[in-house]
Amino acid sequence: MSQGQFLSNCAADTLSNAAESLKNGALVAFPTETVYGLGADASNEKAVARIYQVKGRPQDHPLILHIATMNEITYWAQNISDYAIALARSFWPGPMTLIFKRSDAAKDFVTGGQDTVGLRVPDHSLALGLLQECKKIGLHAIAAPSANRFGHVSPTTAVAVQEEIGAYLSAEDLILDGGAAQVGLESTIIDCTGDAPRILRPGAITQVMIEETTGLKVSENNNSDIRVSGSLEKHYAPNAQIFLDVQASEGQGFIAPSNVATPPGAIRLASPQTTDEYARVLYSALREGDAQGLKTIAVIQPTGDGLAIAIRDRLMRASKGR
Ligand code: TXA
Ligand code: MG
Repeated sequence: MSQGQFLSNCAADTLSNAAESLKNGALVAFPTETVYGLGADASNEKAVARIYQVKGRPQDHPLILHIATMNEITYWAQNISDYAIALARSFWPGPMTLIFKRSDAAKDFVTGGQDTVGLRVPDHSLALGLLQECKKIGLHAIAAPSANRFGHVSPTTAVAVQEEIGAYLSAEDLILDGGAAQVGLESTIIDCTGDAPRILRPGAITQVMIEETTGLKVSENNNSDIRVSGSLEKHYAPNAQIFLDVQASEGQGFIAPSNVATPPGAIRLASPQTTDEYARVLYSALREGDAQGLKTIAVIQPTGDGLAIAIRDRLMRASKGR
């Protein structure tokens, strides 16, 4: 049974009420172009603590702060490099999170005690509308992880949010329905604290796009103590066990590009025609497998680079044993 209020028609007054709810310490789940987020006022320690409770997430994992415009960068961060500004100008609003050295405003309770802070301007009209309303009443950011239980598949629809975490929400909390996420995979995370950008989590903003925009070679240096929970081995996982690049047997789930035929007796969960479509439908296909009670899902991965790299990254983690 869901405790949070599910709101389907998010008109302007709904967004201003949702901003007030955030100010009062409630949680608001909201759509972005990547996946749905579970938001709290980034300056409210109690509200942020509830995100960790609802997700069942370890306290030392940092949250991404969602901001209305790049003007908010200097409120939350310092030592902003020119290449980071170039990235923000080119790709915000969009599926990209930038990691900076934090300012005094970014407290330990949102950064997981780290000296850095992750910022993103999401590209979704509801998310941007909500952030504008927040700004009007003095909130500088919405701290939001993906709105799933820790380690599970991120939700790409409001119904998936309700199924994942609805039971853990309170009557004051809200779930805003903004339709299915357009990208379907979490944002690219880029560490901007060094001399050159470094990709911590691949996504729709690719290495080529970053290098073209900044004129810098993306750093390959992996020696870092920056923690990214999405880079834990086992993550983004459905209940079903995932097998990669094998044919499905009878009774098993099957996800593959549309040009791959369904093996006899397998249960086809998705047939994406393009890499973009693959990213968009992947998480709902994994959820559908769970909804059907499937024990195993065989997945033929997309080939190539760009977004296919991010899809294979998530599938590799989803396939790790529990
Ligand atoms: O697309 C997205 O990024 C979605 C939407 C809701 O914006 N959010 C999302 O949040 O995927 P989450 O918390 O599920 O994953 C964010 C990742 C985590 O792995 C976290 O460790 C990392 O970002 N992160 C956040 N702040 C960081 C920081 N200061 N340094 C390093 N990693 C950070
Ligand atoms: Mg997540």
